[in-house]
Amino acid sequence: MKAPVVFESMFGNTKEIAEAIAAGMGESIETESAGVGGAPVPPEGFDLLVIGGPTHQFGLSRPDSRKGAASEREEPLVSPGIGIR
Ligand SMILES: Cc1cc2nc3c(=O)[nH]c(=O)nc-3n(C[C@H](O)[C@H](O)[C@H](O)COP(=O)(O)O)c2cc1C
Repeated sequence: MKAPVVFESMFGNTKEIAEAIAAGMGESIETESAGVGGAPVPPEGFDLLVIGGPTHQFGLSRPDSRKGAASEREEPLVSPGIGIR
């Protein structure tokens, strides 16, 4: 069973959670965590997809909210490109 854990993350919080989930799942099934920019498009070739991202304005991020996140920190965003929306 293949089951990737795909995450979007601005500052690293969701990435940390995704890695913890993948570590737990990895004890019983084949899995690995991957940033949304490296996820397969279209999403296929696996049995289960675990996907998560940060809450932005009560929902999934949008281009403008990701720009807002980028302006909050000097460090580059963990997921600088597309979001999971
Ligand atoms: C632009 C923006 C909008 C946000 N909107 C919400 C929100 O509506 N509700 C909430 O609980 N947190 C909100 N947050 C906080 C993030 O969800 C929170 O900091 C999260 O841990 C960030 O995860 P990340 O480090 O993986 O990006 C917002 C953060 C940003 C940058």
